Amino acid sequence: MNVRQLSKHIYYLGVNDMRTHRFEGLWPIPKGVSYNSYLINDDKPAVIDAVEIGFCKDLIDNMHDVLGNKSPEYLIINHMEPDHSGSIPVLMDVFPNLKIVGNKQTAEMIKGFYSSIDMSRMVIVGDGDEISLGKTNLRFVLTPMVHWPETMMTYFEEEATLFSGDAFGTFGAINGMVVDNEIDLNYYIDEMYRYYSNIVGKYGRFVQRALEKVKSSGISLSRICTTHGPVWEKEIGRVVELYDKLSRYEASQGVVVAYGSMYGNTAEAANAIASELADNGVKEVRVHDLSASNLSYVLSDIFKFNGLIIASPTYSMDLFPPVEALMKALVTREVKHRTFGVLGSYTWAPGIILKKISHYSDLLGWNIEGYVEMKQAMKASTLKEIKSLAAKVASEVLK
Ligand code: FEO
Repeated sequence: MNVRQLSKHIYYLGVNDMRTHRFEGLWPIPKGVSYNSYLINDDKPAVIDAVEIGFCKDLIDNMHDVLGNKSPEYLIINHMEPDHSGSIPVLMDVFPNLKIVGNKQTAEMIKGFYSSIDMSRMVIVGDGDEISLGKTNLRFVLTPMVHWPETMMTYFEEEATLFSGDAFGTFGAINGMVVDNEIDLNYYIDEMYRYYSNIVGKYGRFVQRALEKVKSSGISLSRICTTHGPVWEKEIGRVVELYDKLSRYEASQGVVVAYGSMYGNTAEAANAIASELADNGVKEVRVHDLSASNLSYVLSDIFKFNGLIIASPTYSMDLFPPVEALMKALVTREVKHRTFGVLGSYTWAPGIILKKISHYSDLLGWNIEGYVEMKQAMKASTLKEIKSLAAKVASEVLK
């Protein structure tokens, strides 16, 4: 049981998933993930966001812990991805008077995912609509594509609290403590980069729209309750600024060197570039062997830093497959303005890597600052070219 009272009316009812190895079947979560659910305890109690189906019993226990035998009146559905919506059918059975609240798109998804639900028990809300819980009110702000088309946020004016759905979320289970001022933030801020770049990263312009909408609505914020990770109180300014930066694809000074290598030759060249970057004053250099580093962490670093060097051997007249997977993931996320250098190696077929990488850099709108091509293994002439590429990339990223 992990119930925490956050304020006069708001209770944290969330659960920790330490059993799932890969979030969405893709992204490693070695330290778990939390599915956050909240209760506003007024005359008509409202639960905001539910949990993944495997944790439904824990959520129900948490609800009983606060409400006793009283039933919640509303279940507010800010987001329909099943890590939050999976419990809805069971909650509807357990609490026969419970009404679900969402927008028109939410309703369509409920019909599709959970066809057993009686839709006459749904309250449809639009942008800016409010519902009364008795002495207090909830207001709904539609924020499509943060992270799905139906996503919305819920504002609890009485306590200046925004229930933000996936926005401002992080990977990592919550270890007993829920609010940011109680916990080690470095870990969760790092996991916010990873969550954003892995899950929300494609939708930067929609995040910008949502941030603008929240800002222009003039609401005051003393608490942000996300669906994953800590509740933000003390660090609201920091996480809003970080989301603004991430959704504009702005990054800090630094270079990610991401390489593929079959027998170590391309790895040697990639490490030589990393060393030269450091010699040229780049303080943050992150080297990833794409056969070893999970894409999740590579993407996170690429969202974090403003320079990228890709090194790939030629493989069956193409890019090395993990390199291609990374380039595709960057195109999917429409990553913008990175200082980009390329190192290609080959044994008998020159020119392939530049041609193939150029396809992706064109899609991304990136300029290739320099290309070094290595035949078979490192030579003095390769090192000379690497030094020149590293100097050029370093001077760009440190501007
Ligand atoms: Fe946490 Fe997009 O679901």
